[in-house]
Amino acid sequence: MPTHNPSQGGLTPGLPTDRTSLLAERQAIIDQHGPWASHNLALPYGVFTMGEQPRGDNFRSSKFLQLARDVLRKPFTELRVLDLGCGEGLYAVEFAQQGASVLAVEGRTVNLVKAEFAGRALSLSRLEVRQGDVLEVNRERDGVFDVVLCSGILYHLDQPEVFHFLRNLRAMCTGVCIIDTRVSLTSEVEAEYEGRSYWGKLYREHAPGSSEEEKLQQLGASLNNDVSFWFTRASLANLLGDLGYSTVMECWIPTPYTIRADRTTFVAVPGSRARAFHEIGSGLHELRWPESEDAEPGLGGSGS
Ligand SMILES: C[S@@+](CC[C@H](N)C(=O)[O-])C[C@H]1O[C@@H](n2cnc3c(N)ncnc32)[C@H](O)[C@@H]1O
Repeated sequence: MPTHNPSQGGLTPGLPTDRTSLLAERQAIIDQHGPWASHNLALPYGVFTMGEQPRGDNFRSSKFLQLARDVLRKPFTELRVLDLGCGEGLYAVEFAQQGASVLAVEGRTVNLVKAEFAGRALSLSRLEVRQGDVLEVNRERDGVFDVVLCSGILYHLDQPEVFHFLRNLRAMCTGVCIIDTRVSLTSEVEAEYEGRSYWGKLYREHAPGSSEEEKLQQLGASLNNDVSFWFTRASLANLLGDLGYSTVMECWIPTPYTIRADRTTFVAVPGSRARAFHEIGSGLHELRWPESEDAEPGLGGSGS
């Protein structure tokens, strides 16, 4: 993967100190890497990365903030946040501006440069933007996080890597894991992990034979894998339970900014299991979601 060296980008290492220098630096980034494609950030001096109108991602950013606040009920200044596949950095920057310590990981230089620029323009000393593959983030090197944000990245990974990725996230997550993702509405392909079956479909990311350069130009796509694996809702829920999240929810409020049947926000909370006095037989935690909407959760189910 070509890597970005901030000292070679023609960008000023320090802070832009007035509107003119901020606009000049923004323009230098656009000239070199193209315009901002999806994250509209409000920078100092009334400068926006994209324009004065909010975009869908602005609503998503507010949603993640609200979720973290409601689930964790802690001041943002006490939180450590991991933003995976951070793109142009909107969510990472938002959490850092709220006072959290944030590690944002992004594979593409063109996105990373924009996230770094926003962090610098806003003097966010607690924001670290790192170029890397999200598959390589791990607890041994990177520690644990109160908030693990996995927005728009899960459905760009293939199996079996996606299973190891989710296991890594579980190991790093001490508070809440927010997974905003596309899901498969059909159970077409079976993927096995640790003796269990999970279902979903394959999604083509890059045309067969695409060069590395062509892949990098698809700004929101996978880095290397030509195909990704999309879990069904049921299988993703089962997997998150299997990985040790004791509560897994889908978020209705705050509302999504766009209603699509195949897009959702999972909110997974690691915890220890409550034991009911009246737990009889195998118990609640052994039940699994079936792939068919007509079936009841059961001990077998296609995810078993
Ligand atoms: C669909 S965009 C989502 C951006 C942002 N998280 C959001 O939700 O708006 C996917 C991002 O993940 C990055 N990405 C894809 N695969 C990656 C990988 N294996 N490691 C690091 N970044 C990756 C892409 O470069 C892109 O910026």
